[in-house]
Amino acid sequence: MNDRFKSLNLPGGTLALTDCVDWVPSLPDECIQLVAIDPPFFTGRIQTGSGPDAPKYRDSWAGGKGAYVSWLIDRIGGMWDLIAPTGSLVVHLDWHAVHAVKVALDEFVGEDRFQNEIIWYYQTGGASKKRFSRKHDTLLWYTKSDQYVFHPERIQIPRTEKAMHRARNPRGARISIEDNHKNPDDVLHIPALNPMSNERTGYPTQKPVELMEHFVLALTNEGDTVADFFCGSGTTLVAAQGLGRKWLGCDVSAEAVAVARERLNQGEANAL
Ligand SMILES: C[S@@+](CC[C@H](N)C(=O)[O-])C[C@H]1O[C@@H](n2cnc3c(N)ncnc32)[C@H](O)[C@@H]1O
Repeated sequence: MNDRFKSLNLPGGTLALTDCVDWVPSLPDECIQLVAIDPPFFTGRIQTGSGPDAPKYRDSWAGGKGAYVSWLIDRIGGMWDLIAPTGSLVVHLDWHAVHAVKVALDEFVGEDRFQNEIIWYYQTGGASKKRFSRKHDTLLWYTKSDQYVFHPERIQIPRTEKAMHRARNPRGARISIEDNHKNPDDVLHIPALNPMSNERTGYPTQKPVELMEHFVLALTNEGDTVADFFCGSGTTLVAAQGLGRKWLGCDVSAEAVAVARERLNQGEANAL
């Protein structure tokens, strides 16, 4: 066992308690089809979950935004080498630092590797009186090469009633009446976890499994490996396991790894 990290092999993959910067160099190059990470967003806060002994993680950097971006790019640099030639990197951020990380990533991996800025519109309640309410996160998608796995047909969404009305009208028809689904665009309408959701673990900033299933289905095939090196409560790993993919996950927080381990051991993904 390497004394810089503790790792645990479960039936679907490996979970490690470590700073990802220590674990990533020990993994073989080009072994992962999708690296999907949801790192701290540079909110300047201690993120605190819910329930007794609420889990927490620190999301502030003494050196400001420049220090944060260098910290993150340093870690993503090692992850990039692990991605297979047909694979993808998805980085989940929000308005606090996505602009600075996009500039740094374009420079680091090459602007030509950038595919999409995907908006996750999470439709939570509450409205700001000071500015337009902030209701979305941004996910940056880069591919290792031009020959990448991409299956939008697996995540099609229903066409709107308006589009289907036009399909029924012989003069306005641009699509056939049978064609009632379409490939999604770069804005995802997926609800955030509500406080009563069975999926909720109490871990701070937990994301919905449905969001991560979207990327796992579109960017990988069954049997491929998916990694999340800031796994938190293990949402990406749960999505990967439920869809028949292998997974690798780590987090620097023992609380996070304990929650992820429980979710993965319970095979929760199969029940969703
Ligand atoms: C936004 S949360 C991830 C939430 C996760 N997607 C979920 O659904 O539960 C970010 C996570 O990154 C972890 N983290 C922060 N620094 C890290 C590092 N250097 N290596 C690994 N994990 C780290 C934090 O402990 C936290 O759990």
